[in-house]
Amino acid sequence: MESFIPYGKQWISDDDIKEVERVLRSDFLTQGPEVKIFEDKLCTLTGAKYCVAVANGTAALHIAVAALKIDMGSEGITSPNTFAASANCMLYNGLIPRFADINPQTHNIDPEQITSIVNEKTKLIIPVHFAGLPAEMGKISKIAKQHDLYVIEDAAHAIGSQYADRTYVGNCIYSDMTIFSFHPVKTITTGEGGAITTNSEVLYERLLMLRSHGITKDTDKLSINPGPWYYEMQELGYNYRLTDMQAALGSSQLTRLHDFKHRRREIIKRYSKAFREVPWLTIPMEPEDVSSCFHLYVLRFNFLTLGKTRSEIMNHLFDHNVGTQVHYIPVNQLPYFSKRNKDKTPNSDSYYEQCLSIPLYPRMSDSDVDHVIESILKLPL
Ligand SMILES: Cc1ncc(COP(=O)(O)O)c(C=O)c1O
Repeated sequence: MESFIPYGKQWISDDDIKEVERVLRSDFLTQGPEVKIFEDKLCTLTGAKYCVAVANGTAALHIAVAALKIDMGSEGITSPNTFAASANCMLYNGLIPRFADINPQTHNIDPEQITSIVNEKTKLIIPVHFAGLPAEMGKISKIAKQHDLYVIEDAAHAIGSQYADRTYVGNCIYSDMTIFSFHPVKTITTGEGGAITTNSEVLYERLLMLRSHGITKDTDKLSINPGPWYYEMQELGYNYRLTDMQAALGSSQLTRLHDFKHRRREIIKRYSKAFREVPWLTIPMEPEDVSSCFHLYVLRFNFLTLGKTRSEIMNHLFDHNVGTQVHYIPVNQLPYFSKRNKDKTPNSDSYYEQCLSIPLYPRMSDSDVDHVIESILKLPL
């Protein structure tokens, strides 16, 4: 019998552990050299000019929106098919989240649906690269330019993914900023962690301040300079710093990002081959010109044809040691939002009726993959 195969899982190597141990034995556990090293590596990977590493992806979204200094009461648009954080970051900053429906094929925000809800209050778009598949950033950046909107890419799922022009997600060619999450189920992990990339020096400087209480010691920025103890709090900021242990883990994990991507893509190839012709399943699509790092493999089940509910299927697979998860309950259906938001997103609603993520992580063995495939193909009809 296989041991339990969760839907996602980190891969910590001996080298990762050595790197964290090295930092634990050093002089700095936080605010030492490792954070800048990790940030520089993220710039090298993505091609962005600047990077600010933070405590988690939610913190990254929070201060990315804060750095834009958008008037309270303005609206921002995101996808309903995401984690609550993509919308919560707007609420933290006094903005009103709106939801544009998804494309039923890609499950990413549909640029035409963005256009249909843009109005004079709209100031921001937060597209989400769902499951690792880049959103249609060319079209989204065009809409943003036409309507004078900021764009923050939520790439919590998409480190290592490539856009249609084959450049890497996070280069901010199409956006003002991009955020990443390094939670253990994500493609690389720092335990908890996140980062923001940008090509704007102004935004970079603001993000650095917001990460650390809004405080600066930079003599060029101080209004007076009475001595070496002196600092000023010039903005209302937060303690969203990443530790040096986490940053060292992140740098070490990054050395294996391309191997992780390769293995993820190997697994999804086998899944898609096995499931392509099954009449009650729809496999995820990847347009030819992009290259997804596949954070998730989401199957659409036709539960009506199967004659089983999603709970029955999840419980059956769980009993066969196959973990599954739903990504996502549409954010605008969560009670906090449904009480306040009336946007209609029928494609997202029908996607939610059918979606189920099956196990995908680079450490899965071929026999784990075979076991998942067999368990699904043998589902009792
Ligand atoms: C799309 C998306 N955005 C943001 C986040 C928030 O990231 P974190 O968990 O690191 O705060 C997540 C986390 O699951 C996510 O999936």
